[in-house]
Amino acid sequence: MVTVKTIASMKQKQERIVCLTAYDYPMACIVDKAGIDIILVGDSAANVFAGEKNTLPITMEEMLYHTRIVSRAVKNGLVIADMPFLSYQTSIRDAVYNAGRFLKVGAAGVKLEGGTPILAMIERLIALGIPVMGHLGLTPQSIHKFGGYKLQGRSEDSKSRLLADAKLLEEAGCFAVVLEKIPVSLAKEITASVSIPTIGIGAGPFCDGQILVLHDMIGLFDDFSPKFVKRYAQVGEAIRQAVEQYRDEVRKGVYPDKAHSFD
Ligand code: KIV
Repeated sequence: MVTVKTIASMKQKQERIVCLTAYDYPMACIVDKAGIDIILVGDSAANVFAGEKNTLPITMEEMLYHTRIVSRAVKNGLVIADMPFLSYQTSIRDAVYNAGRFLKVGAAGVKLEGGTPILAMIERLIALGIPVMGHLGLTPQSIHKFGGYKLQGRSEDSKSRLLADAKLLEEAGCFAVVLEKIPVSLAKEITASVSIPTIGIGAGPFCDGQILVLHDMIGLFDDFSPKFVKRYAQVGEAIRQAVEQYRDEVRKGVYPDKAHSFD
């Protein structure tokens, strides 16, 4: 079974860490059986599962539901729950209470977006024995501050802030940090300057691991597709073909046939 200790040791052994999202039982079973190290119950469920425009609307109750069913499916990987918008920014008390609720339904840790402004919350969670994964760069819960899903860490100021935040997350005891949509060179520099694993998404090949949103990489969601997403399958297309074949067979009286009926 993968633990946060396993993840930390993978950086030392220079083994790449493979991460994906999952929100439901059948997908989590597939992802886990494929040997994925970290299975993130991402708040990207708001976009690719629930059809929202961004991640802000998803609630604690919805994320708890996804986390409970994913945790039920996963036998080997490390299940991390994404703390939704307003579940931790408001106070240390809220952060502890809500993170604890994720552990109660089966997660082994939580992910929070941001650095300096939420450091006190992160430190408290870790002190209380709740493993924390950081998330820096393009943090989608701050979409309105960024004015869109834009590349972060381009200016000198933004670069040094991200480097400093990565250091702070390491010092606070985060077991890993997601780096989203930042230049390759900056991701490489952060990866070399912290002892905790960096998990990239749109951050190039030099991170210690990679994460993608499952629905994006299997072609189950095509409302928008960021440049960094590689399509490994066309599952949406396969489902459409199956549904159309079923529709035609029912209309023509081909299904159900003898093989699918009882005498
Ligand atoms: O919500 C999510 O799926 C994420 C990953 C993209 C890192 O935060």
